[in-house]
Amino acid sequence: MTEIRTPRLLLRRWHDDDLAPMADINADPRVMRWIGDGSVRGLDHTARAIEQWEEEWDEEGFGLFAVELLASGELAGFTGLSVPGFLPQVLPAVAISWRLGSQFWGQGYASEAAHATLEFALQDRGLDRVISISRVGDDASGNVVRKLGMSLERETVHPVHGWPLRVHTIDLTEFQA
Ligand SMILES: CC(C)(COP(=O)(O)OP(=O)(O)OC[C@H]1O[C@@H](n2cnc3c(N)ncnc32)[C@H](O)[C@@H]1OP(=O)(O)O)[C@@H](O)C(=O)NCCC(=O)NCCS
Repeated sequence: MTEIRTPRLLLRRWHDDDLAPMADINADPRVMRWIGDGSVRGLDHTARAIEQWEEEWDEEGFGLFAVELLASGELAGFTGLSVPGFLPQVLPAVAISWRLGSQFWGQGYASEAAHATLEFALQDRGLDRVISISRVGDDASGNVVRKLGMSLERETVHPVHGWPLRVHTIDLTEFQA
């Protein structure tokens, strides 16, 4: 069972009870603003997504962590690792991503979870590097990327939708600097 504790958070695999709170997060247009075409997702979509995230954990040995607040046990959202198959030009690669309910923004939770996720990826799993792919304009993600110490690797566009994207990267030496 892969679990990580940070001062305020538990990063863990997914439970059945996570479906309703994660579906609420995916149903919020503010949360989905920079994800895909910005459309909100329903309960069925979220259920399939959680199943797929769990399969990725089993297949890859890494995946998206459910992020739980230690103080209250609430699900805040996710942070974790996945293979960014939608952007073939960066492959092979593993990307970090994050999505929190809007009531959990502005409290440093995303950065705390992302830092622990990088440590997991680069130290525990021994990945050579981790990238992040963010939409130009998604300043909240850009702020997290900056605080993690990731460097800009390239600017490109989404191969299907044409959205401008920034690819940042970090390796273990840079992470420990
Ligand atoms: C991207 C996202 C995860 C960022 O969340 P966030 O809460 O803004 O990020 P952080 O955890 O870095 O917290 C930000 C602020 O919390 C504040 N904060 C409050 N208490 C804090 C604490 N104890 N420690 C650190 N920061 C704290 C800080 O002011 C910090 O801002 P600063 O770094 O500019 O000073 C969030 O906006 C989100 O879920 N967006 C929707 C999903 C999305 O777009 N995902 C990316 C696309 S794939």
